[in-house]
Amino acid sequence: MTITGKAEVFGVIGYPVRHSLSPVFQNAAFSHLGIEAVYVPFEVRPEDLRDALEGLRRAGVKGLNVTIPHKEAVLDIADQVSEEVRDIGAANTLVFSEEGVKAYNTDWIGFLRAAEEITDLEGKEVLLLGAGGSARAVAYALKRKGCRVFLWNRTKAKAELLAERFGLEVVGSPEEVIGSVGIIVNTTSVGLSDEGTIFDYSLIRQDQVVIDLIYRDTPLIKAARERGCSHQNGFPMLLHQGAESFRIWTGCEPPLKVMVRSLIPYGYPKDYPRTPLRT
Ligand code: ATR
Repeated sequence: MTITGKAEVFGVIGYPVRHSLSPVFQNAAFSHLGIEAVYVPFEVRPEDLRDALEGLRRAGVKGLNVTIPHKEAVLDIADQVSEEVRDIGAANTLVFSEEGVKAYNTDWIGFLRAAEEITDLEGKEVLLLGAGGSARAVAYALKRKGCRVFLWNRTKAKAELLAERFGLEVVGSPEEVIGSVGIIVNTTSVGLSDEGTIFDYSLIRQDQVVIDLIYRDTPLIKAARERGCSHQNGFPMLLHQGAESFRIWTGCEPPLKVMVRSLIPYGYPKDYPRTPLRT
């Protein structure tokens, strides 16, 4: 479609942000629905966050995604935060309006929508690996589903803080509970390269579900596939958190199939989702 001077501007702020795939599928969605809007990445250093948000608001930007390292810092700048943002302690979506800046979190719902493509979460026992920013949204989502969550993190003190906030149980090593859990979720950065493993992956059983938030097939995902487990890398969560941001900004049903198609050249697994997408 042709973009005129009337186009609305959305984007993502992060540092670094050039690698972000959000512009790919958000622009595909705008274009498919004939919404005259563009979605662009804005590289913003932590020390410039407040000024950058004020500048973007004044320039007429309608909404933003927020990524590393700003997800927590935006809480101090936003005029209003949703209930989920308050509970999770992080935001990934901003809406600019005459009333100011409102912060939302769609990571938790993105995780649920993605995980529920391959498994039922209700009341399950889960091993959660990592206690960083993404682990918070996942922990919140799992607790909303009534899961019993065992948390392991390299730095135990961080695990204890997260566990206290969300009612999780800290374990000293993944091996302590690997034999009993139904679902394993990795939120650590281990697997970004092919180096290193978090625990002995030969302990994973075929009846376990393995989810990795990294959007590539990590050694953990490869091990799960070899064992014949249901498994999912981070692409579906990326899609669904973005789709929920799109819904907040536009009020339109996100065109999921179009969004997925746009991500396939960037590695979105062709055999996902296991359940058909609604739109
Ligand atoms: P994100 O927002 O993506 O969660 P983050 O907040 O930087 O990123 O968190 C990174 C997570 O990966 C943390 O749980 C971190 O563990 P520590 O709290 O001990 O730092 C984990 N992590 C990073 N490198 C790791 C490694 N080599 N082994 C185990 N865990 C690692």
